[in-house]
Amino acid sequence: MASCPQAGLVPSGPALKRWLGLGLLLFYFMSLGYAVEKKVAKGKVGEKVGLPCCHEIPSTESLRNYRVYWQKNITEVVLAYAEGKKISVNERYENRTELDSRNLTLWISPVEILDNGPYQCVVQHLKISQNSIAPRIVCDEPVTLFITADFSEPSITAEVRSSSCESDEVVVRCSSHGGFPKPKISGIFNNTSVVWNATWVSESSISPYNVTGNVQLNVTEDTSFTCSIEYSGFTKSASLLLKKRSDCVLPTIPPSYNVITASSIIIIVFLLAVTLAAKFLPRHVCSQCCMSQDSEEEVKESMKTAELSKVTSEMSSV
Ligand SMILES: *[C@@H]1O[C@H](CO)[C@@H](O)[C@H](O)[C@H]1NC(C)=O
Ligand SMILES: *[C@@H]1O[C@H](CO)[C@@H](O)[C@H](O)[C@H]1NC(C)=O
Ligand SMILES: *[C@@H]1O[C@H](CO)[C@@H](O)[C@H](O)[C@H]1NC(C)=O
Ligand SMILES: *[C@@H]1O[C@H](CO)[C@@H](O)[C@H](O)[C@H]1NC(C)=O
Ligand SMILES: *[C@@H]1O[C@H](CO)[C@@H](O)[C@H](O)[C@H]1NC(C)=O
Ligand SMILES: *[C@@H]1O[C@H](CO)[C@@H](O)[C@H](O)[C@H]1NC(C)=O
Ligand SMILES: *[C@@H]1O[C@H](CO)[C@@H](O)[C@H](O)[C@H]1NC(C)=O
Repeated sequence: MASCPQAGLVPSGPALKRWLGLGLLLFYFMSLGYAVEKKVAKGKVGEKVGLPCCHEIPSTESLRNYRVYWQKNITEVVLAYAEGKKISVNERYENRTELDSRNLTLWISPVEILDNGPYQCVVQHLKISQNSIAPRIVCDEPVTLFITADFSEPSITAEVRSSSCESDEVVVRCSSHGGFPKPKISGIFNNTSVVWNATWVSESSISPYNVTGNVQLNVTEDTSFTCSIEYSGFTKSASLLLKKRSDCVLPTIPPSYNVITASSIIIIVFLLAVTLAAKFLPRHVCSQCCMSQDSEEEVKESMKTAELSKVTSEMSSV
């Protein structure tokens, strides 16, 4: 197991002087305040990320003259080298780490969300003289690793709650999942940003997040809606056209009156027509049958005359 680098820092004699000097130097840097920026490394889940260390081994020397500790959040040793040999590797980082033998950069591949957090690189120089090893701290510097995981394309759904001629009350829902870190959600409607009622779901602070936003809008005309998910400098956006309902329901009551009026008029006209027809139709039928009776008599009469003429012709032939 790797000894804690701080444990190897017990100063004595001339080492104390150097140690104090280092402390003063550190104080000097701290007094510069915000001028000293914290080192930062960024990477996406699955990628290879390098965490820069604070010392570059000169070409005249080698890793054999050093102890290098890469720690996470002070308490956990990620990777440790002493005299050129790997002396410790964290189970969680097994087969995922590599140390650059010159600039001591810690390479992690592939990175995981769990790797997110503060790291520390501690370098000690070993002066081997008279069978004793006198480690001297060269540098000790923190570096923060920010891991991001891509969110899914936002999915937008719209549900019409109520509708009138002027506007539709629409509840818009935007959701995205599986990303890291905790995102911001924003929305643009009618050229103004909306105020979401948003919820975030995550198993822990170092697990992927699911985000869902709800907002109620008044849609007065066809308008495009855009939802954006922002996380550590990345943005995922999606848009949806919210259509104003065109089937305006306001004039539905007056038409029903019109229909009643129109149908009553039609019924009255029809009844009138039937009554009139009933009055005139029978007469017409009678006149027809009278006419047929007349014609029968005429036929009979003509037959009579024909018989008469027949008789006269017989008489004449006698
Ligand atoms: C360390 O060296 C590697 C290549 O050997 C290079 O890619 C990396 O940028 C260097 N890092 C620093 C902090 O100099
Ligand atoms: C690391 O790699 C070695 C050799 O390839 C393998 O035997 C071991 O199971 C690996 N460990 C993990 C945690 O993947
Ligand atoms: C670092 O460790 C401390 C306790 O050792 C813990 O409370 C804290 O949450 C850790 N921070 C991160 C970012 O892991
Ligand atoms: C939206 O706002 C921008 C500036 O805020 C403006 O330039 C643009 O004309 C606006 N568009 C509409 C349709 O109002
Ligand atoms: C936000 O949504 C939750 C549940 O989805 C609901 O209980 C809460 O009342 C909503 N808040 C607002 C201000 O609409
Ligand atoms: C996040 O959403 C995905 C897909 O919808 C789901 O499978 C997963 O269980 C959700 N995670 C949490 C923590 O709710
Ligand atoms: C939507 O319009 C109704 C009246 O039509 C109004 O009462 C309500 O406050 C409006 N809501 C929003 C979010 O503008």
